[in-house]
Amino acid sequence: MVPLDHGQLSVAKHVVAGAKRLTVLTGAGISAESGIPTFRGPDGYWRGHSPEELASMDGFLKNPQLVWEWYLERRRTIRSCQPNPGHDALAFLDSRKEFCGVVTQNVDGLHKLAGSQNLIEIHGNIWLTQCISCPYKVDESQSPITFRLNCPECDSLLRPGVVWFGEELPSGGWQQANEWVKDSELLIVVGTSAVVYPAANLIPIARDAGSYIIEVNISNTPASSTADICLYGKAAEILPLLVDMKAP
Ligand code: OAD
Repeated sequence: MVPLDHGQLSVAKHVVAGAKRLTVLTGAGISAESGIPTFRGPDGYWRGHSPEELASMDGFLKNPQLVWEWYLERRRTIRSCQPNPGHDALAFLDSRKEFCGVVTQNVDGLHKLAGSQNLIEIHGNIWLTQCISCPYKVDESQSPITFRLNCPECDSLLRPGVVWFGEELPSGGWQQANEWVKDSELLIVVGTSAVVYPAANLIPIARDAGSYIIEVNISNTPASSTADICLYGKAAEILPLLVDMKAP
């Protein structure tokens, strides 16, 4: 891991403190310290699993039971995890009037649990269960984790309320995320490999809008060359330093 440059950190703190409008884009790395695996790391979800099999409508229709087993296993992991100081630091930003919000690719719900209210979960939320045919949709975050395949309203198939490969992002959230990014003078990009589109497009969109970009990650990503400052280290350790949590 590249060491954290404390000079860069103090410049970044200054930029964050002075930003008139700011938005944060997060990925799986922010939840790593909470105990949730990332996707592309050495112990990531996609090692030994095929995204096409487990995270696409085709894969689901071929073997809905297998797909549900994977999501239920992930729900069990997530239920045993808590937000970490990185999530807490971003939730604290809600108290700043200049803050647009957090756009997260994570489906684990930990930003919400940490108290973030200006939040867009652009890939959905793993606790939602919805019917593939009718409007039935429930939040199961407080329910026992059990296997249910058929819709109680129409008997069609139930699926998790997450965005799969090949699916469009819900348009309301995506539009709002674009507006926040274009309206911001600072984008903080945290714990994402920045290779999944369209989410990763928010970074060049910010750049084109003239935004300053700070990246927080344990290693380089394709976004690093676009960033003005790269802070190398764990999000759970760097974000509380970056965000002055004593400010009103
Ligand atoms: P990835 O697994 O692709 O990337 C995680 C990133 O977090 C990597 O760049 C790591 O270097 C970094 N990282 C790991 N631990 C960290 C830590 N403690 N602190 C800071 N950074 C750390 O996850 P995402 O970029 O979120 O989509 O993946 C994007 C999308 O791909 C996911 O939302 C999911 C996946 O397939 C869908 O399922 C649609």
